[in-house]
Amino acid sequence: MKIDRCYCFQKRFADLKTVAEETGAATVQDVQQHVEFGKNCRLCHPYVRRMLRTGQTSFERIIREEDEPRTCTSAE
Ligand code: FES
Repeated sequence: MKIDRCYCFQKRFADLKTVAEETGAATVQDVQQHVEFGKNCRLCHPYVRRMLRTGQTSFERIIREEDEPRTCTSAE
């Protein structure tokens, strides 16, 4: 199963990436200023951090907080 969205808010990572590119948002919190997502279980946060870091928008494996800690992005 591919993981390609915030399931709680049904927001695709590809769409969040577009928002980040258009607005210059560099952190999960920055993107949340423009799109409603990631405010329930928050399991999508490490995926969005990896997306912001690498540009990847679809993931094959589980990414946990410890796999993609907040310190990975210099702006957080
Ligand atoms: S999957 Fe994003 S808040 Fe639950």
